[in-house]
Amino acid sequence: MSKRSVYLDYAAATPMDPKVLQSMQPFLVDNFYNPSASYQAARDVKSVLENSRKSVAEILGAKASEIIFTAGGTEANNLAITGIMKNYPKSKLVISAIEHPSVNEPASYFNHATCPVDSKGLVDLTKLESLIDDQTVLVSIIYVNNEIGVIEPISAIARLLDSIKQDRLERGLNLPLYFHSDACQAANYLDLHVARLGVDLMTLNGGKIYGPKQSAVLMVKSDVSLSPIITGGGQERNIRSGTENVSAIVGFASALKLAQDSRKQNTEAATKLQDYFAHELTNAFPEAAINGSMTKRIANNLHVTFKGIDNEWLLIKLDELGIMAAAGSACSAAKGKPSTVLAALGLSDKDSKSSIRFSFGNKTTKSDIDYLINSLKELL
Ligand SMILES: Cc1ncc(COP(=O)(O)O)c(C=O)c1O
Repeated sequence: MSKRSVYLDYAAATPMDPKVLQSMQPFLVDNFYNPSASYQAARDVKSVLENSRKSVAEILGAKASEIIFTAGGTEANNLAITGIMKNYPKSKLVISAIEHPSVNEPASYFNHATCPVDSKGLVDLTKLESLIDDQTVLVSIIYVNNEIGVIEPISAIARLLDSIKQDRLERGLNLPLYFHSDACQAANYLDLHVARLGVDLMTLNGGKIYGPKQSAVLMVKSDVSLSPIITGGGQERNIRSGTENVSAIVGFASALKLAQDSRKQNTEAATKLQDYFAHELTNAFPEAAINGSMTKRIANNLHVTFKGIDNEWLLIKLDELGIMAAAGSACSAAKGKPSTVLAALGLSDKDSKSSIRFSFGNKTTKSDIDYLINSLKELL
């Protein structure tokens, strides 16, 4: 078997689409102006920035004024959590047990409750309802988990929150109940229409959709009371100060458009690979367990436990054969800790440390999967 290079870590980073790069280039060298400056050339750049905002808003079914550009998904998630809780310091928020650290960490500074998931990784709606009390102002549930790829029932959660809001209204309580979802892993494959999802705030990430890293959006409905976490020159409606990174914003908008225009084809192609991969894997390794729901799952993820195998050893061996994959999320992998996401599903530390995430994308082929399976057969 000759050595190849097989990238199976698209959930960590996606290569930039050449069309995205092309859209960004004019704003790096020639049209570099600060969009807040007063001369015509800067005003032209400002209008390109505003067109990017409109394009993102249109895709999400939101208003342009509801789109806040940030430097990355981490910042957008921090802004959502901290920005609301700063305005309601005596209130409470509820998150799920499988949030990304960029939600967990800011939530830990406030009064919060954590909603468990079932063994498939799905948020339990009855438990969620029981955790929401009259002090709860925010619920934050990830749309697609970055480790196990499970798709959470976002619109069903929104309907539950609507019924709680209705009940509060009837009882004369006027504390809002906002719904935030971290959709960093969703845009290549899933619907992002905010009214259909029923979210008040949503995080999107350019680095996961063949756009630039450190480009992202927090969609914030206009009736949400949100404080800034980065203050200064008052850009982004005073919610996120700092000179706008115009090329990254333009790149984000074009990446999102490409991702959403092709999400049905992306899903079809990735599902075929996922089915093939799962079939070949189970044939070759009947002991291997796929973690997370198979039916409520993003099309480009398989997360596998190889019982008794050390995942760090396996990743090194796969890397030697040219295969790039991950143990959990990039962040928890770097710390060498067992994944909190897998623990939430009920996996033991031992099984967690025997688990690997394979995530594929638009360049992955069936022969990449064959190479992976053959490599695993050689190693295990
Ligand atoms: C679900 C999810 N949320 C948030 C983030 C944070 O994004 P970034 O590291 O680009 O700031 C990531 C990236 O790994 C993610 O997968």
